[in-house]
Amino acid sequence: MANDASAVSDARPSAVSNGALADPFSPPADSSLWRKNFLLGAATASYQIEGAVNEDGRLPSIWDTFSAKPGKVLAGDTGAVACDHYHRWEADIELLASLGLEGYRLSIAWPRVMDAAGLPNRKGLDFYKRLLNRLKEKGITTSVTLYHWDLPQHLEDRGGWLNRDTAYRFADYADLMSRELAGTVDAWATLNEPWCSAYLGYGNGHHAPGLADGRFATQAMHHLLLAHGLAIPVLRANDPASQKGIVANIGRGTANSDSAADQRAAHLFEVQHNAWILDPLLKGAYPQDLFELWPGTEPLVLDGDMQTISAPLDFLGINYYFRTNVASDGAHGFRDVPLEGVERTQMGWEVHPDGLRDLLIGFNRTYRNLPPIYITENGMASDDKVIDGHVDDTQRISFLKRHLAAVDQAIKAGVDIRGYFLWSLMDNFEWAFGYERRFGVVHVDYSTQKRTVKRSAELVAKFLKERKAQA
Ligand code: FCB
Repeated sequence: MANDASAVSDARPSAVSNGALADPFSPPADSSLWRKNFLLGAATASYQIEGAVNEDGRLPSIWDTFSAKPGKVLAGDTGAVACDHYHRWEADIELLASLGLEGYRLSIAWPRVMDAAGLPNRKGLDFYKRLLNRLKEKGITTSVTLYHWDLPQHLEDRGGWLNRDTAYRFADYADLMSRELAGTVDAWATLNEPWCSAYLGYGNGHHAPGLADGRFATQAMHHLLLAHGLAIPVLRANDPASQKGIVANIGRGTANSDSAADQRAAHLFEVQHNAWILDPLLKGAYPQDLFELWPGTEPLVLDGDMQTISAPLDFLGINYYFRTNVASDGAHGFRDVPLEGVERTQMGWEVHPDGLRDLLIGFNRTYRNLPPIYITENGMASDDKVIDGHVDDTQRISFLKRHLAAVDQAIKAGVDIRGYFLWSLMDNFEWAFGYERRFGVVHVDYSTQKRTVKRSAELVAKFLKERKAQA
């Protein structure tokens, strides 16, 4: 992922002028997406697709434990089988390559590759070696996330992210993985969405491990960020040629009124969603407003932690899905005020591409050391059905087109954005929503494991083919 989109001249295909590329997805002729080194790929995560939770020495993760508890996941779904990718990975990589996707973002299941004593599990490691080698053979850029939420249960049993020691165990895990996989990984991301791990996992209990205490959330966040900071130099030492970064989910907060109280509420929404993570990473300090919003939740921070956490990054991964409209709660916080009459997805999330553009431009102003950006996730769920062998996911096609246009606008406004990964390559286990919510550009029939390429994927493939063919 070392390509520099900003350094290339705009190479538009001549076919655009006669309208030959006019389809519901194709970006306009002046879009930065036509630059061949703007990486376009797809993303997945281990627990959401692999299945095979008891195979080849894999240990239980917090998501095995959590999803087994009644009432935690819609319809009682678990990741036990998921997309059976552990067994079907070869066909899945063929599919990815056949769509012409240039990048693949995957995550490693920590409980698959290390035992409770910290020793390597060869069988688990070999799975990722085979997978990454095959991706490299296919010429696909590999982006590997070390932690996409599947913490080994034995670590949770010792306090999980509330225990500072977990950060050091994570650095050991990063050490092992980068020694074993060096040379096959183009970009390493330490964590996926620490906001979700800390807030949903320890703050409100919607995700594993299911704890709900505001002070837990801020302490878990601190240990997650510390884990990230400890891992970065380890990754640099073991695999110097690769890029190192982290993936954050960002949220746009807006208010209906211009009143100072409502504007403050929208600001606070973004403080807890974005600045809570980005300020420590990029400024080496937590935003003070966070503790006005959540009084008394200051985490225990030891000397040197903030310096460790703010180690320079090669890239920042950004995941974006929707905006949240809020108003003042009359005290020191905000309350959600869902807008009516707006377009929403199967998740109920509002479709708001401008939010992505505005946040990217805002970060570029706020953080003078903002690293190059990859959009590491963007996409939407719809209740897709296979009809006569086809899936016509019209809303997704339009969603992707509009969000890619927002990315283009941010690039034109000076933000260094180098790539975009669709969430997701295929329908998968959508955490607390189980299998009901379909985010894939490839449909998965969970009773047969049959994959069906949706119309959105066909159009992305068509665009990539055209881009590749241009002079
Ligand atoms: C993100 C997660 C990803 C997926 C999408 C829809 O928060 O990183 O695993 O569930 O949401």
